[in-house]
Amino acid sequence: MRMKLLLFGAFALAVAMAADQAANQANLDRGRKIEQTTCLPCHSLRLIRSQRLPRATWDKELTKMAGWGWSAKPEERAALLEFLAANYGDDKPAAPPDKSADGRK
Ligand code: HEC
Repeated sequence: MRMKLLLFGAFALAVAMAADQAANQANLDRGRKIEQTTCLPCHSLRLIRSQRLPRATWDKELTKMAGWGWSAKPEERAALLEFLAANYGDDKPAAPPDKSADGRK
């Protein structure tokens, strides 16, 4: 009986963790979408994605962009911050060098 309970507990935990991961992934996907729809009117994605910044600095960047006219709902801003910190944090390897205008992508 104890073993069954233990197994059930482990199963429930695995399901909860998978659900948590899925929610997290959905939030990151949302952040990516917000980046592509709201950051691109002013500059290229490269300017954003070549950065490697700690979360607090990304937070400041968003505030700075808001000062220049960027706007988003608080939960959109939060999802975007998650996405930026997760993918372009200062723990990630440096971005590949930029190509010249006639270079192949
Ligand atoms: C209203 C116009 C505007 C929008 C929208 C905008 N930016 Fe910017 N952003 C700028 C300007 C202007 C610069 C300076 C460009 C330059 O130096 O060539 C800049 C520069 C940057 C830089 C380079 C570092 C810096 O601070 O100069 C990053 C990173 C950046 N933006 C991120 C973002 C992100 C992420 C978004 C979407 C949330 C965004 N921007 C949306 C105007 C904007």
